[in-house]
Amino acid sequence: TEGGISDEAKARAASLIEEAASVLANGGTVAFPTETVYGLGADARNTEAVERIFKAKGRPSDNPLIVHIADVSQLDELVLEVNETERRLMDEFWPGPLTLVLPVRPEAVSPRVTAGLDTVAVRMPASEVALRLISAAGCPVAAPSANRSGRPSPTLARHVREDLAGAIDGIVDGGPTGVGVESTVVQAGADGTVTVLRPGGVTAEQLARAAASVTRDPALDRAAAEDSPAPRSPGMKYTHYAPKGALCVVEGPTPSGVSDYIAAELERAARRGEVTAVLAFDEHIARYKAHTVVSLGSLSQLATAAQRLYAGLRRCDEEGATFILAEACPQEGMGAAVMNRLLKAAGHHVVHLNR
Ligand code: TXA
Ligand code: MG
Repeated sequence: TEGGISDEAKARAASLIEEAASVLANGGTVAFPTETVYGLGADARNTEAVERIFKAKGRPSDNPLIVHIADVSQLDELVLEVNETERRLMDEFWPGPLTLVLPVRPEAVSPRVTAGLDTVAVRMPASEVALRLISAAGCPVAAPSANRSGRPSPTLARHVREDLAGAIDGIVDGGPTGVGVESTVVQAGADGTVTVLRPGGVTAEQLARAAASVTRDPALDRAAAEDSPAPRSPGMKYTHYAPKGALCVVEGPTPSGVSDYIAAELERAARRGEVTAVLAFDEHIARYKAHTVVSLGSLSQLATAAQRLYAGLRRCDEEGATFILAEACPQEGMGAAVMNRLLKAAGHHVVHLNR
């Protein structure tokens, strides 16, 4: 039939979404695709349901969850106030990969969702499946990424199954997610200032078009220092996404210096018996000999690196990599989110070359 999707397939998908929605409405947990990564949803108002999310993921309970809505009309019941800047950001970027931290209306969601903070993080995802599921469930849906805590976020339903099969009530398979890294989490002042608490699918450059100023939470760039202040987004303090092997990010002033270093280190590591892996850009990838070579696409197209990063890190584990090197990329556009996740995966283990 036209468009490749038959009426029967559409009807089947619609009834699966209805079924998943009724699981959510009845206090269950369902994994579903968003445009960023797969989320593990539950009714945000239902503490027992939300506790099932924490249990399935093995997530620390002081790490609050993002609440997903399908329509801005749902905001009134969740938050006390939306300022002009926040309104502008919603108009500009919703539905889409932007999460706003807003003053929570007391009792609007389970205290397990906010981890006791007086704010709640809210976003409206751009995925059609997610929007239909949330509408049909008829409740605000709390949903962290649908991975076991400490594993890379899932960009395929298969990743969710690998991590959470048996621990959750269902998975809606919507194919690969588009963006590949999580939403950008921001706090916005009435004066137009926007603070990025977590870089993600909406870039700082895009935010700057709708804001008077855009700054990064200073804790983002001090995460490696022991005396650094707590990040304003509590989740940023955990080492997420860490592969089992030792991962190190390599950066330097010249691309050729970086690729010389990586090529030599991979060979040395292989000689001492390591199972080697490399995450690299297409401009240099032909130079590397490793057991596992993950392409992050072209340096001129960093959105591709975002799409491929998590699956690439999972592949390193699947292949039993013990020694993993990754090329750094410029912190421009989607490069900011890619570097943030890569550095966290590496436990901030970085080699800075001088030349
Ligand atoms: O793209 C995404 O945002 C995905 C998909 C499923 O929507 N969700 C996601 O959720 O990444 P999660 O739980 O893995 O990350 C939520 C982040 C954490 O860093 C958490 O600390 C922060 O949002 N957060 C949640 N509530 C907050 C609050 N009230 N204030 C500051 N940060 C908050
Ligand atoms: Mg997560």
